[in-house]
Amino acid sequence: PAGPSVGAVTTTELGDRRARRTARPLHLLVCRPEHFTVSYEINPWMDRAQPVDAALALAQWETLVATLRRLGHTVDVVPATPGLPDMVYAANGALITPGGTVGVRFAHPERAGEAEAFATWLEANGYGPVHRPVETNEGEGDLLPVGGHLLAGHGFRTTRAAHDELSRVLGRPVTSLRLVDPRFYHLDTALTVLDDDPAHPDVAYFPGAFDAASRAVLAELFPDALTTDEGTAAVLGMNAVSDGHRVVLSPRAVRYAEQLRGRGYEPVPVDLSELLKGGGGPKCCVLVVRA
Ligand code: ARG
Repeated sequence: PAGPSVGAVTTTELGDRRARRTARPLHLLVCRPEHFTVSYEINPWMDRAQPVDAALALAQWETLVATLRRLGHTVDVVPATPGLPDMVYAANGALITPGGTVGVRFAHPERAGEAEAFATWLEANGYGPVHRPVETNEGEGDLLPVGGHLLAGHGFRTTRAAHDELSRVLGRPVTSLRLVDPRFYHLDTALTVLDDDPAHPDVAYFPGAFDAASRAVLAELFPDALTTDEGTAAVLGMNAVSDGHRVVLSPRAVRYAEQLRGRGYEPVPVDLSELLKGGGGPKCCVLVVRA
């Protein structure tokens, strides 16, 4: 029996889904923050005057990796290159899909060297060939596959022209979303993919990070999506890694954790306070291999 309708899905269906969230094993690529520091400022979170505790950054990152492995995920490590402090944010290294691997081109010269470091490693390790993009795109930071859609952010880093290039290279449509708040400069700082299952894709997002047209697109694609408050986004709470059941997120995102529990997800807090000084959270640290 169908319950009252909430958007496209009935409350009964939502209740059922809530009761049986299922985890999918993930294959993730990461990069150890061996050379991590804040030596330049390319987003509002970065402040060269604020000291970074390098040993703590490493320890927190090791805890993230251990947590992901404890949850049953496969985590492979891409070697870090000296002089590329932001390489720890491996999400920006590529977009790996069953239809092909797209490399990156960074908006800022400070990160430019990472593009070839990731592409070369990916090709040497069986994830190639890597398409070297002409337009600026920062990989999974701005490009998030969910349930057959490819959501793509633009406005700060990845360009609108890059969405067209991606669509051409991968042979699939891209859903462009415009980011408008400099604190949320990558799509993965404004939106979490909670469930990638094509039968019932699920996302959460902070509406204030998007322009009105993009909010309308999101509302249409995901009428039942969880929307979060500014406080959640302002601690980079949206930058979370979900396997469809467990969601690795910042311990500061207390309200978000409550919302997720209410939706049948299990929040798993991991503190990355040092990497937050570079403007990243758990999701920034992982690049998903989609086979
Ligand atoms: N300091 C890095 C930058 O500004 C942080 C990147 C965070 N990565 C992400 N996927 N949001 O580019």
